[in-house]
Amino acid sequence: MPQRKTTAETLPPATPQPALPSPPPPRPRGSVISVLDLSVPEVASILALATLLEHEAPLVRMHRLLKRRVALLFYESSTRTRTSFELAAKSLGADTALISSQSSSIEKGESLKDTGITLKALGAECIILRHPSPGAPYPLEQATGLPILNGGDGTHEHPSQALLDLRTMLAHLGSGQTEVSETTLQGVTIAIVGDILHSRVARSNALLLPRLGAQVIFCGPPALLPDVAAQIGPGISIERDFERALAASQVVMMLRIQVERLAGMHIDLEDYKGRYQANAERMNKYAAQALLLHPGPIIRGLELTSEVADGPQSLIAEQVRHGVAIRMALVARALDQSTGSAVETRAGKSARKTARKTRPA
Ligand code: CP
Repeated sequence: MPQRKTTAETLPPATPQPALPSPPPPRPRGSVISVLDLSVPEVASILALATLLEHEAPLVRMHRLLKRRVALLFYESSTRTRTSFELAAKSLGADTALISSQSSSIEKGESLKDTGITLKALGAECIILRHPSPGAPYPLEQATGLPILNGGDGTHEHPSQALLDLRTMLAHLGSGQTEVSETTLQGVTIAIVGDILHSRVARSNALLLPRLGAQVIFCGPPALLPDVAAQIGPGISIERDFERALAASQVVMMLRIQVERLAGMHIDLEDYKGRYQANAERMNKYAAQALLLHPGPIIRGLELTSEVADGPQSLIAEQVRHGVAIRMALVARALDQSTGSAVETRAGKSARKTARKTRPA
């Protein structure tokens, strides 16, 4: 019997294989869309850079990003995030341009992608984006190739807020602002209270703080805090009883009910206040030593009383101050990393040398 040939001639024709999807392009360095973009050492280095920049002489600091271009693209209203990013970029010497959805070609229907491409063509080297849609920064990053700093995207994330919250806590917990590791917040419990369902701040904090050793308690009624919220990540638990949450916590972060995102959901505000309002009586009885945080804007008389907002435990104004330092670090990092240069720019070094030479003895 003739032997069967086993050469390529006898093999059945190869079935055409579907082309493999090409891998996504590498993300621009310096983008911060989620706190998960940052390793713990990167968080530590952002905090350290924030402190360095905060203490630097303004005339020296302004040479770091002199005439570099930063665009602030805001599709939602903002006071704290917008102003502090703008002041941060300006105090590093950058030129800023604010584009808001109400007074730009966005009103005429220009897409996020085309707006981003336009800003890049105008010389923007980094875009700070606030947008009502969760995940909106990702296509903007892909379309422009620029580092994107997420200034809050719908109910998804608000990473710079979580970093400034962390800096505020560390300033009061005796840990030192820059000594951040996986154990820095060991033994610290943070209660995040209120409208967790719609809160990008709650998500970013809950994804960041347990990585530094903290326990996070989410507290609120089921309508604003579904059980599934505990599955966001490790180190998170749910407590429906506000007073028990207060008694267990060293830090209490109150949240506003986001009426603009309730979409037909009805909340009995009187009942809510009765159960979840931070008032002086509750704070004194259950959490007299706790730090009181709130990302703002606050609604006095709803999630907290004026007495608590203005009281000795409140760090609300301090959070805002920390926001400028954190955002300086994020903008400096985004622009340095987008060009691959070191954070210590040549311009900064030379300005420092001149300042030393001209300083009176
Ligand atoms: N915390 C915060 O994001 O506030 P703004 O909406 O005022 O920016």
